[in-house]
Amino acid sequence: MTAQSIIQTAFIIAALLFILALAGLSKHETARVGNWYGMAGMTIAGAATFFYAIDHSERGWVMTLVLLAVPLLIGSAIGLWLANKVEMTGMPQLIAMLHSFVGLAAVAVGIASYLDTDHNTVAHLIEVGVGVLIGAYTFTGSVVAFGKLSGKMSSRPLMLPQRNLINLAMLLAAIGCTVWFTLSPNIWALVIITVLGFALGWHMVASIGGGDMPVVVSMLNSYSGWAAAAAGFMLGNNLLIVTGALVGSSGAILSYIMCKAMNRSFISVILGGFGEGASGGGGEARDYGDHREVKADEVARMLMDASSIVITPGYGMAVAQAQYPVADLTRRLRDAGKDVRFGIHPVAGRLPGHMNVLLAEAKVPYDIVLEMDEINDDLEQTDVVLVIGANDTVNPAALDEPDSPIAGMPVIEVWKSRQVIVFKRSMNPGYAGVQNPLFFKENSAMLFGDAKAQVQEIIAAL
Ligand code: TAP
Repeated sequence: MTAQSIIQTAFIIAALLFILALAGLSKHETARVGNWYGMAGMTIAGAATFFYAIDHSERGWVMTLVLLAVPLLIGSAIGLWLANKVEMTGMPQLIAMLHSFVGLAAVAVGIASYLDTDHNTVAHLIEVGVGVLIGAYTFTGSVVAFGKLSGKMSSRPLMLPQRNLINLAMLLAAIGCTVWFTLSPNIWALVIITVLGFALGWHMVASIGGGDMPVVVSMLNSYSGWAAAAAGFMLGNNLLIVTGALVGSSGAILSYIMCKAMNRSFISVILGGFGEGASGGGGEARDYGDHREVKADEVARMLMDASSIVITPGYGMAVAQAQYPVADLTRRLRDAGKDVRFGIHPVAGRLPGHMNVLLAEAKVPYDIVLEMDEINDDLEQTDVVLVIGANDTVNPAALDEPDSPIAGMPVIEVWKSRQVIVFKRSMNPGYAGVQNPLFFKENSAMLFGDAKAQVQEIIAAL
């Protein structure tokens, strides 16, 4: 067996392990082993890439090893430091930032591979042009997503006049430049493609409102995969092509699921044109009347009188790290003979599956954690719903107010139950910046304060 065939076999094994990792990650029960497959695949891929680079190098193996090892060590040290430092609530912006690195790497690989070769074929030039465009788009789009998710930029959509026309003009110009670059390769065409990619990514993501960010994050995840696949074509690296295509297609499937969950059109997301209409940041301030407040001991009494209880957690549960007392409360109520279930909205929190991860971490049994569609029909027969740090995902304005920025998004219809208790610290709106009429309904009461402290007080009162 030659060194080359060993390396290619290692690439195939790594690709198979990545497929097994994706399959494992699709279910709670197998997610842990899925992660192990992914880590094993990445280790094999990393080692094989080392040998691949040394085998192909014209600089001698010592120099190649140094060139590979130094950035690898610096990158690993920064990665370890960041992963240790980041709070669970900071994961979405960290992921957006990591997507931006993939995009920037694809741009760098594209420009380098154009400058490095003196026999640029048409196929290679197309790979470079398309790869740089997708990479540049992914980079600035992810930087804007990072800004919006971390609160460093306003989550309101940027509403430039004729924004669809601007996007179309930039896209056509980028395609024109790619054709120009392919027919007469020159660095200026590549520079213009890069600048147009940067501008498109920035403008398209800036035009999208806060409530629609989940779809954007999964879409950028998909684009980062295609950018990596494009880099694989430019470098002639099969593993990068396969891995990029896996990330690209699984991100696209996730975006499709998200679009369905939020009742948004998949095509308009791809075209970046869904900052208008329902998502356009409209929705006038309305007077919904007065809200009612309750204290933890009153909630404890209501829970003791109830026989069916549903808990709908949201981003606030993650902020408060309230999942452990929530799991404890659930255990106590179930021990007292109550029917307790969870209703999870597909975009609750800031990451796909965010609430499921937190509840699994706190050892809440999987079989009482239901999806929005599974719980909505049962809410009319529910005695008490505890809304713990959720807001947009339980907002009736999504169904009742056509001019609301979240109009059309399916929500958990908690107000249909007999009594709703909303755990939050103030009357402030949720991520989408929309006032929530739920708080003012007759059967709603607000339990103000940090969600973790309030749940602990309820447990003490019980
Ligand atoms: P949000 O609408 O974000 O509301 C969370 C609520 O939690 C806030 O109203 C906040 O009110 C409360 N809160 C924060 N810290 C708290 C604490 N320590 N104790 C008690 N309450 C606390 O939550 P949601 O219903 O989960 O909706 C998610 C939103 O994020 C949607 O708009 C969704 O589109 C968007 N988004 C989701 C994702 C994914 S993939 N899931 C990604 C990006 C964006 P106070 O400040 O008054 O306490």
